[in-house]
Amino acid sequence: MQYIIHMKNILFAASECVPFVKTGGLADVVGALPKSLYKQEYDVRVILPNYTCIPWEYRGKFQHISSFYMDYGKRKENIFVGIMEYEYEGVKFYFIDNEYYFKCDKPYSDSIRWDIERYIFFSKAVLAAMPVLGFHPDIIHCHDWQTGMIPVFLRSTFASHSFYWGTKSIMTIHNLKFQGVWDIEHFLYNTNLPGYMFTPDKLEFKKDANMLKGGLVYADDITTVSEPYAEEIKTPYYGEQLDGLLCARSRSLRGILNGIDYDVYNPETDKKIAVHYNAENAVEKKKEAKRALQAELGLPVDDEKFMIAIISRLTDQKGLDLVDWIAERITDEFTQFVIIGTGESKYENMFRYYQGKFPDRVSANIFYSDPLAHKLYAAADAMLVPSRFEPCGLTQLISLRYGTVPIVRETGGLKDTVEPYNEFEKAGTGFTFQHYNADDLLYTINYAKNIYFNHRKDWNDIIKRGMKKDFSWGSSALQYQGMYDWILRGMQ
Ligand code: GLC
Repeated sequence: MQYIIHMKNILFAASECVPFVKTGGLADVVGALPKSLYKQEYDVRVILPNYTCIPWEYRGKFQHISSFYMDYGKRKENIFVGIMEYEYEGVKFYFIDNEYYFKCDKPYSDSIRWDIERYIFFSKAVLAAMPVLGFHPDIIHCHDWQTGMIPVFLRSTFASHSFYWGTKSIMTIHNLKFQGVWDIEHFLYNTNLPGYMFTPDKLEFKKDANMLKGGLVYADDITTVSEPYAEEIKTPYYGEQLDGLLCARSRSLRGILNGIDYDVYNPETDKKIAVHYNAENAVEKKKEAKRALQAELGLPVDDEKFMIAIISRLTDQKGLDLVDWIAERITDEFTQFVIIGTGESKYENMFRYYQGKFPDRVSANIFYSDPLAHKLYAAADAMLVPSRFEPCGLTQLISLRYGTVPIVRETGGLKDTVEPYNEFEKAGTGFTFQHYNADDLLYTINYAKNIYFNHRKDWNDIIKRGMKKDFSWGSSALQYQGMYDWILRGMQ
């Protein structure tokens, strides 16, 4: 029997994507997932803003394929929309070009009001561009608040365009904390949508308008990046005031765990690290990696020091206030503490302070460097991720792959991916604690240290078990494909 496979057209819309522009895990997911879907059945293309901060090594190769003028909001003048195209690792990327909106030295500005205007423009331009390109998406897969207006425009401004009849939309929540909220006037002006759409059952949110909420109301389906987080966000503690809506839409809400790109994160081939290893020789080789990094960072070179790492955006979400409580107590003479990341200045300064106080025990690298991050994944003994909430979290997945033992709070994706060490059954891949509490974190780190210093064989077995887990995109990609098929079958 012969099967005829119908190509399904999927358009990813997002505000960041590796290798072009990245501030967080969203970029990794948008970069990796399209490559992992089955090419013979899914034609996946990605659309992004053409930020001028995209490195020239890529931008210089973008090809201008079309441009037009679009009416935008209540403006009298039509606005320029250029479309650039670039193929990278077998995936076709489009970039919406408009210098007024996307001339920038970083993707997000310091003004949420301005960003809202920029992303409303982007969302409308995405829908206006597809007929020009002749790419008819069966599904538009939107990521985070910046693209929340796409499902809204699809069912309002573009509802009568026959081009989009049958097109479905999906809203994926990578982080519910950021929603794109500003006053309704600003939205009325920039969207030109009718006033009746700004009611509590649609776009209104506590007398303001909310882009992510719009996406969650109008999308055909909603996903988030782990099953536990899909449950958590239906509760007031994690729901960021949208828990009611998410409960109401719970039949359309599911969690699909992120993977990591196993080509990029592979300790056997990673070009950013000098020593290569696998589960069999990790214990010995990681010592070499540790010595090299200690020398590079100016820490005492000693492979018996317990090296704890943090690689993170430095924001409240990441549990750094807990780290502040315990930092002095974990940086004893047997321990080194290495941090890489940028973010809120209170946390940047906090880590600088500890480095000043313990220069031979703390290395605070308050910048983001991908090569340094890879070296730290290879060198560290443990990775700390004590998040207040964590939709998925990629750091712990990369750590497991590099034989770095995660110490995490049991929330969201962390709970789903790190199995707590059980000393009686000799099972587990990391150390976990449940309550958002500094004493519990301290206790857990000290417990990990005890296993490291006094039961080294057990510690080494934890490393091996972690490295043997599979968090590549394979099974997640299958789940996304299943969801696309289900939506296109009419969700029976
Ligand atoms: C956000 C979340 C993180 C998740 C990532 C990718 O950055 O905070 O938990 O892994 O998005 O989905």
